[in-house]
Amino acid sequence: MYNNAQILELFEQSLRQLRTPEEPELLYAPIIYSMSGGGKRLRPVLLLLSTEAFGGSVDEAMTAAMAVEVFHNFTLLHDDIMDNADMRRGKPSVFAKWGENVAILSGDAMLITAYKLLTELNPTKLQRVMRIFNDMALEVCEGQQYDMDFESQKKVMVVEYIQMIERKTSALLSGSAMIGATIAGASDADIKLLYRFATELGLAFQLQDDLLDSYGDEALGKKIGGDILEGKQTYLMVQAMSRATEEEREVLRTTHLNSKLSDTEKIATVKALYDKLEVKRATEQQIDQRFERALGILDSLSIGAERTVHLAEFARNLIGRKK
Ligand code: IPE
Ligand code: IPE
Ligand code: MG
Ligand code: MG
Ligand code: MG
Repeated sequence: MYNNAQILELFEQSLRQLRTPEEPELLYAPIIYSMSGGGKRLRPVLLLLSTEAFGGSVDEAMTAAMAVEVFHNFTLLHDDIMDNADMRRGKPSVFAKWGENVAILSGDAMLITAYKLLTELNPTKLQRVMRIFNDMALEVCEGQQYDMDFESQKKVMVVEYIQMIERKTSALLSGSAMIGATIAGASDADIKLLYRFATELGLAFQLQDDLLDSYGDEALGKKIGGDILEGKQTYLMVQAMSRATEEEREVLRTTHLNSKLSDTEKIATVKALYDKLEVKRATEQQIDQRFERALGILDSLSIGAERTVHLAEFARNLIGRKK
């Protein structure tokens, strides 16, 4: 069995073979920029590790792995427009570099490229994989819409927030894991468990992402405080709102709209309340719980522990990430 580093290397090798036409340049250059821009490759690695865990062929699963990574990068191109985010992976986001129209259309071309890659799969498996892929892709869209709806919603409950990130973030991880296991011919019961494993992992991952957005450093490669400036309902904000006094709630709700404050002041104001309300600790606890749950679910797969070591290592590597 390949370990995580070897899987990643195999994936990077295959990705380097991916060719796009040269013209029109403004359609294809952003795709190259995005795909070679230092992503962690979590989804394809999870897909391939899932294939391996169930005795499948990494080679056979490779185009599906490429498809989920291209799809992921497509979501980022559009997400950065929606979130008005001008930095990603330490560089200008596609929308900041080339403008909205380019990010929309290159993103569309990436979505189509993802489907093209997927159709290269063994036809006997294509229909099942396509179903998982489509459900996953729609769920991401649903999550993204809830994420935007919440920006103008006065109160968001913790359960609503969890349902939202289960769609926008977990769906792509759980879909990847299920696709990998499906290609390997895993049983329905195991695929369901793997789905639950990756769902919990995805929740932990997005909670960490929220935490790092306010408390991370430049290693994150995104603008720290971006969520605060956009008025996002992150886990930190939802927790803060539930713990705050009515007066503090008003500050949490309106600071990002206050034109008298600079960005730095807005971020400092909201973070001062986060600190007072101890939402960092609450978020860290929630992250730990989700990681533990994920690792616990791995143990219940029908395959032996020696077959899940790399999946467990994958999960553990995410704990305490800085980027
Ligand atoms: C970013 O995902 C989007 C979220 C779900 C938070 P990643 O942090 O996996 O992005 P890259 O591909 O590694 O940059
Ligand atoms: C990630 O949400 C979900 C998707 C991109 C589908 P975020 O908006 O929090 O991701 P980042 O922080 O921009 O990477
Ligand atoms: Mg977003
Ligand atoms: Mg974003
Ligand atoms: Mg984020």
